Amino acid sequence: MDKQATFSEMKNGTAEDYAIIAEQGSKHASELPNRIMDHLNLLKGDTGGFAVDRFTHSIQTATRAHRDGRDEEYVVCALLHDIGDSIASANHADLAATMLEPFVSDKNYWIVKHHGIFQGYYFFEHMGLDKNMRDQFKGHEYWNDCVEFCAKYDQNSFDPEYENLPIEEFIPMVHNVFAKPRDSIYKRRDY
Ligand SMILES: [Fe+2]
Ligand SMILES: [Fe+2]
Repeated sequence: MDKQATFSEMKNGTAEDYAIIAEQGSKHASELPNRIMDHLNLLKGDTGGFAVDRFTHSIQTATRAHRDGRDEEYVVCALLHDIGDSIASANHADLAATMLEPFVSDKNYWIVKHHGIFQGYYFFEHMGLDKNMRDQFKGHEYWNDCVEFCAKYDQNSFDPEYENLPIEEFIPMVHNVFAKPRDSIYKRRDY
């Protein structure tokens, strides 16, 4: 069994305890891509009434972005943009954005965080909502980027006939993007 700290209250923790914890922590961090892929797999079989399940939609969104020449980080954001659908059904975009935040650019973070509202342009009117809800962000420097993500890759990725790349194509990309956070985990962006 791995070594464990001995304190039962953090106020009694020692440098020795935290050497053990830090070692375990870096192992845990290195396994993050595997946990993310496990979580993405939870979307399998969950169609939510759409023509493809949420896992297929995710791969299809990423495949379209990849075939359109997007870089690895963008493709990974496309792959994971709906990963929050399993446990954050009321704010799924925020969950994905928060998970990605330390590892991606401001622009990619913003796209993922706001894609739910921007995607509403294609269907909110069928649910009694304002399809132009995204207009509250008009003039933002990443407005066009989020519009483009939804138009080119997200709103059109419910096609059961589309030839998706296999998930194996994306796994190394997920490992690369999540290899190292670019910011301290305690530094949050202010939006
Ligand atoms: Fe979404
Ligand atoms: Fe989506």
